Amino acid sequence: MAKVKSEAAADASETKERYTLGYSSQTIQQLQRRTAVREAGFLLPHLRPGMHLLDCGCGPGSITVGLAEAVAPGQAVGVDIEPNEYRSAWLQAAKTTGINLHFGCADVYRLPFAANTFDAAFLHNVLSHLRQPLAILKGIYRILRPGGVIGISHPDFSGQLISPSDPLLERDHELYWRLVEHNGGNPAIGKHQRGLLHDAGFVRVEAVAKYSTVGSQDGVRMRAMYGGRRFGGSAIAQQMIDLGWTNRAELEQIIAAWRKWSEQPGAFMANATVTAVGWKE
Ligand SMILES: C[S@@+](CC[C@H](N)C(=O)[O-])C[C@H]1O[C@@H](n2cnc3c(N)ncnc32)[C@H](O)[C@@H]1O
Repeated sequence: MAKVKSEAAADASETKERYTLGYSSQTIQQLQRRTAVREAGFLLPHLRPGMHLLDCGCGPGSITVGLAEAVAPGQAVGVDIEPNEYRSAWLQAAKTTGINLHFGCADVYRLPFAANTFDAAFLHNVLSHLRQPLAILKGIYRILRPGGVIGISHPDFSGQLISPSDPLLERDHELYWRLVEHNGGNPAIGKHQRGLLHDAGFVRVEAVAKYSTVGSQDGVRMRAMYGGRRFGGSAIAQQMIDLGWTNRAELEQIIAAWRKWSEQPGAFMANATVTAVGWKE
């Protein structure tokens, strides 16, 4: 398979990986709204009570909670490279869920587990931030037992739909895309997942693309608020300014463009998410 963009970039660049979204309380709260039913619904039919499951790059763990319920009394383990920012969310999640859920610190490039340990693995919005997704998936293949299942889900922002369009909203898209790539990720990784799982050794790989849509008054208002937050003093905005790609005045214009967009009666936006499942033979 041809190299996906982020791996090609890794060869060419000395830039280190950096998790673009950061760990502001707003970002963490946003992640905490995620659920296994919504975000891991494609994997749930393949989970069984008693399985041993790993959620890689689990963030605050709100999806892991639902995965733990699906495999109980089997154990679910959530790992993330940043334990400090998530500590209180993890304590809360483990308290409400029971004894079969554990969280810990681990780098997905060097998972500290023996071969053939888990029956199921899950990654949601993690590979899109990392340079070498194939190396990570090969590592997960190693720690899955024969017959084990993997489920992965990532966006592909190359399929973005937006109306009415506006050069400033296109600039937003371009700036964010460039920043994710600069930080070592791939904002269009979704479409590569089937190939990546296949190249990592998984079989019977199936992938599906779905659009998440912003097409109601409330949805449009929320998206415009998010656009404002992203460019209104966040770590993302600061990094773009530090890199010399933009300045506060342009970011203010982008925020105003989101507001104007949200006031249009026909405002609509949608982005593709690709999910894929595969098995270790
Ligand atoms: C967008 S968040 C997704 C969190 C969670 N999977 C979810 O969907 O709610 C990406 C997560 O990947 C974690 N991460 C980034 N690099 C990592 C690495 N090398 N090893 C483990 N986790 C990593 C970040 O700390 C962050 O929590």
